[in-house]
Amino acid sequence: MNSMTDLKPKTNAELMARRAAALPRGVSQAHGVFAERAENAEIWDVEGHRWIDFVAGIAVVNTGHRHPRVMEAVGQQLEKFTHTCFQVVAYESYVELAERLNRLAPGATPKKTFFMSTGAEAVENAVKVARAFTGRSGVIAFNGAFHGRSMMTLALTGKVDPYKKGFGPFPAEVYHAPYPNALHGISVDDAIAGIELIFKNDIEASHVAAIVVEPVQGEGGYIPGPPEFFQRLRTLCDTHGIVLVVDEVQTGAARCGKFFAIEHSGIEPDVITMAKGLGGGLTLSAVIGKAEIMDAPVPGGLGATYAGHPIAVAGALAVLDVIEEENLCARAQAIGDKARARLSALKSRFDCITDVRGLGAMTAVEFCRDGDPHRPAPEIANALKAEAFNRGLLILNCGTYGNVLRLMLPLTIPDAVLDEGLAILEEALVVAAKA
Ligand SMILES: Cc1ncc(COP(=O)(O)O)c(C=O)c1O
Repeated sequence: MNSMTDLKPKTNAELMARRAAALPRGVSQAHGVFAERAENAEIWDVEGHRWIDFVAGIAVVNTGHRHPRVMEAVGQQLEKFTHTCFQVVAYESYVELAERLNRLAPGATPKKTFFMSTGAEAVENAVKVARAFTGRSGVIAFNGAFHGRSMMTLALTGKVDPYKKGFGPFPAEVYHAPYPNALHGISVDDAIAGIELIFKNDIEASHVAAIVVEPVQGEGGYIPGPPEFFQRLRTLCDTHGIVLVVDEVQTGAARCGKFFAIEHSGIEPDVITMAKGLGGGLTLSAVIGKAEIMDAPVPGGLGATYAGHPIAVAGALAVLDVIEEENLCARAQAIGDKARARLSALKSRFDCITDVRGLGAMTAVEFCRDGDPHRPAPEIANALKAEAFNRGLLILNCGTYGNVLRLMLPLTIPDAVLDEGLAILEEALVVAAKA
């Protein structure tokens, strides 16, 4: 039964207070608002305020909030059934989605796909597949990587605070190499030499099952890896019989101007993980790989109760249609170019802007003191986030030092909303640069 207090309009402040009392502090919150509803690139909070959304649920709603095609597909599926557990009673939509992703994955080698729910689960399962295929145990990831918050993916993640703090020990036989970063003086040669050093110092190459790599480091600071880096990783993996796992959880589903960001490098990965943009706001992740590798685990070795949930699969099939019909790969490139052009123009006015970079729609601005990349300025990124928030724009930062602003625009954002958001960002920067 509703109490009288349920009828009172709720305020963000009241809900924040209840949140603080009811939830552990470990579940953080970037902005002090509670959502009431959302459409495309806009969110309205419980007090009726409108927010321009440059976060997209952390690069999830690539097709915008509540895309009508996705809503329709979900509605139709709700009329049929919500859950059977795919391994118990199968449904055609799961197979159809796997077939479509197999066709979209780069390279001529036949592919197979299975579904999980979260990005972390997809990466965990990619490691399981690689170990089953190679009979080896070692895994190499990169400094600054983010692969999730489960124990194995935390071991792979290359940032301690806050993700790993207090949670160890983590699974063994995980090693980290440098990720190329021209701004910080790490070349592709350095990164490859780092892996060779792991083979010398830590584990012989013949014991390494997988190298797990992001095409653009996401949480690590929106750092695109150069195509040459992935080409050399491909050669290195071929030389040593290592499975190359490309983590496209954040970069996939058209975000980087191609369906998979790794297509920019022209290589064929052995396994790809994806999540976020795939489900159009519903919980779905995928592991896509060369059929021979994917068939290594024994029957029953893969799956989970909710994996490949029929509602999310229905949404994902609509997402693939929307990406194709609305040409969202090209749109991702266009909005990324526009945002970077505008932000680059500001670079000459603000010496705290050390770098403007990105791939497709993934766009980042790095802030450092006096333009010196060795003096990260998270206080400017934080002030910018706060100033943008005061003006109705939601943005997030990232990076090892938290000094990188990242834009995660819904790819369907209308030009007028994009321009409005970029104008707010510019205004907010004028104030934040003084922080
Ligand atoms: C590259 C990458 N891999 C894995 C993950 C983990 O995904 P999830 O939070 O859905 O477990 C993320 C999340 O941000 C990610 O960016």
